[in-house]
Amino acid sequence: MITSDILDRFHASPISGIFATVQRLRRDGRELLDFSLGEPDFDTPLHVRQAAKAAIDRGETRYTPTDGGMDLKESVRRKFRGENGLDYPLTQIVAGMGAKPLLAAAVQAILSPGDEAILATPCWPSHVGMVELARGRAVKLATGIDTGFKMTAEQLNRAVGPRTRLVILCSPANPTGAVYDEAELRALAQVLLAHPRVAILSDDLYEHILFDGRRFHTIAAVEPRLFDRTLTVNGLSKAYAMTGWRIGFAGGPPEWVDAIRQIYSQSSGGLCSISQAAAIAALDGPKEFLADRSARYQIRRDLALQGLAAAPGLRTARPEGAFYLMPECAGLIGTRRPNGETIGSSSDFACYLLEDWNVVVVPGPGFECDPYFRLSIATSEATLTRGMRLIAKACAALIEKGGEAWPSAVAA
Ligand SMILES: Cc1ncc(COP(=O)(O)O)c(C=O)c1O
Repeated sequence: MITSDILDRFHASPISGIFATVQRLRRDGRELLDFSLGEPDFDTPLHVRQAAKAAIDRGETRYTPTDGGMDLKESVRRKFRGENGLDYPLTQIVAGMGAKPLLAAAVQAILSPGDEAILATPCWPSHVGMVELARGRAVKLATGIDTGFKMTAEQLNRAVGPRTRLVILCSPANPTGAVYDEAELRALAQVLLAHPRVAILSDDLYEHILFDGRRFHTIAAVEPRLFDRTLTVNGLSKAYAMTGWRIGFAGGPPEWVDAIRQIYSQSSGGLCSISQAAAIAALDGPKEFLADRSARYQIRRDLALQGLAAAPGLRTARPEGAFYLMPECAGLIGTRRPNGETIGSSSDFACYLLEDWNVVVVPGPGFECDPYFRLSIATSEATLTRGMRLIAKACAALIEKGGEAWPSAVAA
């Protein structure tokens, strides 16, 4: 078969693999408690849906400009200025079909083959995948529960080398829920100021999902001297519960914005005309529901933390934002399942949870870490309560009873 050598270096997102497995098992009639999805369970706000319907009725069904229509760019401009204190001229704004392709195009625009991109792990798998697709090399800075899952200025300073062209920041973070505060970003910025050939990609997708009264900060606003080499990326998928509408946008240096437009012009084209009308309504419309939803996620986070505290062998950090928990399962490594198999990794543990307890989580290797797993709290409180109880029982069965408790525990 004729294939590109990029396929030897590149891995598909593990989360889409799990998504496919869950769909298959459900089709086979298995009832699953699914904590794998990075998708809000809320509805797209009514006024946004209505704006989309109105766009259809007005006949807005044609091709749109490759980098987003002027009305949308104006809305994005107001958003960056009003919410983030970032003033981008329209020529420095680009919109497209979701933040994911936008980030991928940006990485392609910035990296040449062999260039290095630095990021903290555990990380969102696609950040690494995008670097691989651009034939770059991801330099992974390991973090953990004890460091709050954040890269430190010292780590960053040590990692920057002659081939470093990019640093990818993600806060609030998928998959850990870590949030960099202003002082932490300032410390990273201090390192980056000393390396003028390094670009910064700030993935701010979870901006509006913050807990315990935290405030959001983005690096180009914290350190204005980095404004000219930072691409600030955002979108509507998470905060506005608009994953299926595919809307992402970014502000940054005109050269990169132009490069992204050119890449889009030869690949994706412009975004969906209906989604564009919806995006304008979302960005310019009421915002009160954002805080309400954040508060709801915080309740779920607390529920999940409380449930997991009863799970022997797990250690879980307290997420500061986004809608994920990243428990460490080192305490379960070496235990045995009822079928005699040894739990040797987070993948084995996730497999045990799925096969024996009908609970779906995403194991750590996809996020470049082990032994951790990701658990999404973007699901109902009832599902979370049931799921955490089962996880606690599953852990107890491994540790205390060598798995003997399994059959009755599932029925409970
Ligand atoms: C950190 C992060 N960035 C970007 C994206 C992609 O968002 P979009 O739906 O806009 O493509 C996701 C989606 O899971 C994400 O978790």
